[in-house]
Amino acid sequence: MTRPDNDLLLRALLRQPVDTTPVWLMRQAGRYLPEYRATRAHAGSFMDLCRNANFATEVTLQPLSRFPLDAAILFSDILTVPDAMGLELSFAEGEGPRFAKPLREEAEILALTPPPMEKLAYVFEAVTSISRALDNRVPLIGFSGSPFTLACYMIEGGGSDDFRRVKALMYSRPELLHHILDVNARTVTEYLNQQIAHGAQAVMVFDTWGGILTSAAYEAFSLEYMRRIVAGLKREQDGQRIPVVLFTKGGGQWLEGMADTGCDALGLDWTVDPAAARARVGHRVALQGNLDPGVLMGTPAEVAREARRVLDAFGPAPGHVFNLGHGISQYTPHDNVRVLVETVHHYSHVLHANAPA
Ligand code: CP3
Repeated sequence: MTRPDNDLLLRALLRQPVDTTPVWLMRQAGRYLPEYRATRAHAGSFMDLCRNANFATEVTLQPLSRFPLDAAILFSDILTVPDAMGLELSFAEGEGPRFAKPLREEAEILALTPPPMEKLAYVFEAVTSISRALDNRVPLIGFSGSPFTLACYMIEGGGSDDFRRVKALMYSRPELLHHILDVNARTVTEYLNQQIAHGAQAVMVFDTWGGILTSAAYEAFSLEYMRRIVAGLKREQDGQRIPVVLFTKGGGQWLEGMADTGCDALGLDWTVDPAAARARVGHRVALQGNLDPGVLMGTPAEVAREARRVLDAFGPAPGHVFNLGHGISQYTPHDNVRVLVETVHHYSHVLHANAPA
């Protein structure tokens, strides 16, 4: 693994100076791109895309061919991990993810163990194939779900609007939830280390549902397990430092604790004020975010204005990666994505050039 030609992302995640703010978008490969929909139709289903390294490589590169993005993110899903644990994942057309065998009975929970990594070999093959195809143009980001967010899907059997089964378990048999989280944390650590070994140059943990918790429960059921992952990750590969990003959607009030895990960067959703976040975490970590994905539904002029506003709010200090505050919507007009990426590059270049030394 050698350093990519465009290493803005890695520099920014490690809080090193840059002359232009790097930008990538959560879910940058996906349904808002007609070429993605075509490849998916050709592959058959979403999981067929994930399981075939050639398809996964093709769709990972699609947004990079259209827009001058500064990073690629592995095309896969967080739910490959519970699938490998035997929960049997499927994506029904127009619905969300479903597990045929969700965790409901105590005996099922106690029988849960970390799966052999061979079950996830298709993901590592995709990482190898993508990094070869990238040919060191931009860094490749690997990812996983957080132990708590994975547990939400494993227990509910799919998405939920109230997570009542998760909460029922938490407030009746917390030791069973801790067992699931412990297995998930050990699995995720190994899974991310394998992604790193196969060529991922930064890794991100998506804690999409940590924000449904009370502060005390967040500490005990989500943050504690992300801390264990950060501590267990291989942070260097072939002499290169591998930055680790933690993102809890709705986690704006817990940034200090997240920074204390020893991670390199925090993802911020759009509800967080960037300047206030920076004041709270100081310069311990880089910050990634945090344009409201809804802005991309507006006019191009408004997209550019809001992008500049986000850049101004983070300021020219090292340690900002531009991103959305959550994944891009499938209804996003792609012309707005182009305006966004170009505005971030041009405006941040001026911002950095005029920054006090
Ligand atoms: O960012 C990227 O481009 C990399 C690919 C990626 C996907 N999912 C592809 C995907 C990543 C990083 C994810 C993470 C993921 N998956 C999360 C965490 C981040 C977040 O958005 O909060 C979660 C919660 C999931 C679970 C998941 N996967 C859901 C709820 C759904 C269905 C709802 C939806 O938005 O489609 C998916 C499917 C999925 N994962 C799609 C893609 C491109 C759409 C599948 C399709 O083609 O229909």
